[in-house]
Amino acid sequence: MTGRKGILLAGGSGTRLWPITMGTSKQLLPVHDKPMVYYPLSCLMLGGIQEIAVITTPEDQPQFRRLLGDGSQWGLSLSFIQQPSPDGLAQAYLLAEDFLAGSPSAMVLGDNIFFGHGLPEMLNSADARPAGGTVFGYRVADPERYGVVDFDETGQVRAIIEKPAVPPSNYAVTGLYYLDGDAPALAREITPSARGELEIADLLALYLQRGALQVEQMGRGFAWLDTGTHGSLLDAGNFVRTLQMRQGLQVGCPEEIAYQKGWIDRAALLARAAMFHKNDYGKYLTELVK
Ligand code: G1P
Repeated sequence: MTGRKGILLAGGSGTRLWPITMGTSKQLLPVHDKPMVYYPLSCLMLGGIQEIAVITTPEDQPQFRRLLGDGSQWGLSLSFIQQPSPDGLAQAYLLAEDFLAGSPSAMVLGDNIFFGHGLPEMLNSADARPAGGTVFGYRVADPERYGVVDFDETGQVRAIIEKPAVPPSNYAVTGLYYLDGDAPALAREITPSARGELEIADLLALYLQRGALQVEQMGRGFAWLDTGTHGSLLDAGNFVRTLQMRQGLQVGCPEEIAYQKGWIDRAALLARAAMFHKNDYGKYLTELVK
């Protein structure tokens, strides 16, 4: 049990995949066999976090509530917070300030998928650092789309630069941020960027200045996928399907994680399985109790 609280940021953003008439937020769309938001939610759960605030646009909140409920089906306690306008990732800490009530947090973006052997251990060590923050660097071919890590000659992190035209390295900062209880107060110190957003990079810069930011590398054995383009959404679905078909194991299955962690019992798991008994997901859940 950890004192750290979770933030699942599934608010609006500049990137729209389809016209609003599609009627649903991107994070509720399927990535292969489950809603996109299950993957980042599972990541928080793997990190041992049970108290989570889900931040969405006011319009999308009813759909998220309908899908996720109060979280008790997974042994979680979910709260819902509205983000009236998408004014940057760092804004989440202001919106969640009362919810956090001074606790350290782990924030994950609703369209980020993490997969890799040793992920729970990596999350546990980030959780164990009481002060400061931890973010995760991951090598990508197109760093200019992300926050990018600038290393000095000795390999120390000099800066994190948001969407640089000329990236100082290939290491993107993933959408998973472990910050201490100071995050809301520090978020209040930053001002909107040229694109009008409270940038997470500016918040992380304050941690860097204090010498309190750890950048952990997720090595090449990890998969960090985002789903910000039509192609990457399909790629993520194919990736999940390929792994699941090959191993017969689910990626990002909240029921399985909750059951393995002892947050739900056999009866609760079977109740979930019964809801999906006509498809492979339900069959998988049924098999877990055997
Ligand atoms: C955001 C952050 C960026 C980070 C990325 C991860 O970008 O601003 O630093 O690397 O998430 O997905 P955005 O999704 O707003 O383009």
